[in-house]
Amino acid sequence: MAAKGTGILPLRYVNGVPVPQARRTLRLREKYIILLVFMTFTTVCTCAFLFLPNLQDKVSMDEVRKQFQGAEGMFLLQARLGPDGAPLDTGKLLRHGDEANDPHNVDDKKKLQSKIVTAWEQDKLDKGIQEMHVKPEDAGKLIESIQMEKDIILRKKKEEDEKKRQQELEEAKKVNKDHEGHPGARGGEPTDLDVRAKRDKVREMMLHAWHGYVQYGWGANEHRPISKQAHSGSVFGAGSLGATIVDAVDTLYIMELDDEYQKARDWIAQSLNFEISADLSVFETNIRFIGGLLSTYALTGDQIFKKRAKEIADKLLPAFNTPTGLPLAIINLKTGSSRNYGWASGGSSILSEIGSLHLEFDYLSAVTENSIYRDKVMKIRTFLKEIDKPGGFYSNYIHPKTGKWGQQHVSIGALGDSFYEYLLKEWLMSNKEDTEARQMYDQAMQVVYDKLLVKSPGGLSYFAEYKSGRLEHKMDHLACFSAGMVALGAEGSDNQTKYVNIGEDLAHTCHESYIRSATGLGPESFRFEGITEAKAIRQNEKYYILRPEVLEGWYYMWRLTKKQQYRDWAWDMVQALEKHCRAEAGYSGIRDVYQEKPQQDDVQQSFFLAETLKYLYLIFSEDSLLPLDKWVLNTEAHPLPVRGVNPASMK
Ligand SMILES: *[C@@H]1O[C@H](CO)[C@@H](O)[C@H](O)[C@H]1NC(C)=O
Repeated sequence: MAAKGTGILPLRYVNGVPVPQARRTLRLREKYIILLVFMTFTTVCTCAFLFLPNLQDKVSMDEVRKQFQGAEGMFLLQARLGPDGAPLDTGKLLRHGDEANDPHNVDDKKKLQSKIVTAWEQDKLDKGIQEMHVKPEDAGKLIESIQMEKDIILRKKKEEDEKKRQQELEEAKKVNKDHEGHPGARGGEPTDLDVRAKRDKVREMMLHAWHGYVQYGWGANEHRPISKQAHSGSVFGAGSLGATIVDAVDTLYIMELDDEYQKARDWIAQSLNFEISADLSVFETNIRFIGGLLSTYALTGDQIFKKRAKEIADKLLPAFNTPTGLPLAIINLKTGSSRNYGWASGGSSILSEIGSLHLEFDYLSAVTENSIYRDKVMKIRTFLKEIDKPGGFYSNYIHPKTGKWGQQHVSIGALGDSFYEYLLKEWLMSNKEDTEARQMYDQAMQVVYDKLLVKSPGGLSYFAEYKSGRLEHKMDHLACFSAGMVALGAEGSDNQTKYVNIGEDLAHTCHESYIRSATGLGPESFRFEGITEAKAIRQNEKYYILRPEVLEGWYYMWRLTKKQQYRDWAWDMVQALEKHCRAEAGYSGIRDVYQEKPQQDDVQQSFFLAETLKYLYLIFSEDSLLPLDKWVLNTEAHPLPVRGVNPASMK
């Protein structure tokens, strides 16, 4: 009461400056100003945080330089627009005479430049704050002007980015072809209406799997079809490399799904990027990425696939720098530093991994006319050929530094499988001219037939595993591919009937592993122990993750024998997949094939699109699609052309 109307205004201090106590009506306004000051400060800080790289120890100068390449234009633009008219001709300020091109000076220049910009922004902020204290109504204008500048800069940057993107898009859209591929790359429409309907069903499955990935995993390696989110299996490391796109692109092409193929092709042309810091499996990168890209190059002749395949292969080359030439398993894409898995017998390399590079590297050398890739894989083969092999066995582990075998483990399944497969297919891909590969295949397989091929009391033939002197009576789902391999190798062997028969027996055994489950799908591994035959025993071997190998065996047996049962089995598998694996947004693996209603694992593996669906499509097609004498499928079902007889085998 006393204060009201007395005219005595108590003093208040702001920043050490005495200011008169404002009237009550002004208090709200003050709050407003404080809010504005705070907002201005936040905006400037955010801008500084976004556009100014940390020049201290964390970032390498290379990265700093890269960041500045993008941000420099913005700083200069901002400086020119400075409303206070301060002399901000950064070009002049930063000139260092004749040493301007010295990298150190360039770095200094950039540091200085950033300091100037920071100082300038700070100055502007201080001025703004001062002005606001005097004239609060101007604060809005200041913020407005800052906001406007920001908008202009962001808009310009966006326009530039968009322009650049459009240019790249246009560039990548141009399809330059080396050749038109081989006629057998597409077609094979069945004349039988029932078979045609089945093939159409497989195509529909491919679309379902693909669209789920496009919607929920696009650009990531894989996706989860139930929880509907991106996913990356550990084989891909930490990167987002679009594994499903690269693995699926040739299947899309073969199935004549043109819109989907185009989308995949454009992503590979514009967005596939291996310039990242991630640890990758040399083997997986080769069979899925390099294999997928080279295959699509062979099928379409589109140069972009060859270009990308070469870029990726070049990234893997440092892994081969070992005393023996046997490559290491994992490589860091950025540094090139390589290592082996800790679990692999004292830091050994793995037989199937070092033995499954040959087809892709050989073909890459042919189409790039650069022998470096072929030289790398020939060195591996020569080393393995000449090394002493106790008992004639190739063990699954070999040390890349000493060249000595690791723990003795021989298998046609995991860790061994595609080493044998590639020896045979090297011979096939060379149009049977590479007789060294064939001889190595025959020698390696002779020991396998002699020591690992077992017939169970119930009459089922299978390949057992050999571990430190004794047999383990287990066959992996992975090992079921061998039915096709053995039969495919019949031609050129000493007894065709014998090997086709073995192939048939193995295909039959693997089928038994499917029909002895509750789901009609087979387990990860099955065993022969006592009365148990062709069934998984351990809980951790009962899952099915959309794998192709059993079907792969049936596919080759269908092509080689034309027995209807193989198509029938494949159709049964389609039913089982639809019943147990189909999810709302794609296909999922299951955790236990022996349960009537198995739980789904919520992962759609990229090989489901590369292999499983491709083999299903092929088994319901005529043989004129990818004829066996013109194409060889790599171990991820990516077709590569046979040299000499397939026009796609040349550049
Ligand atoms: C070829 O193999 C079949 C089946 O194993 C056998 O019956 C036949 O005697 C063999 N032929 C020759 C010439 O060895």
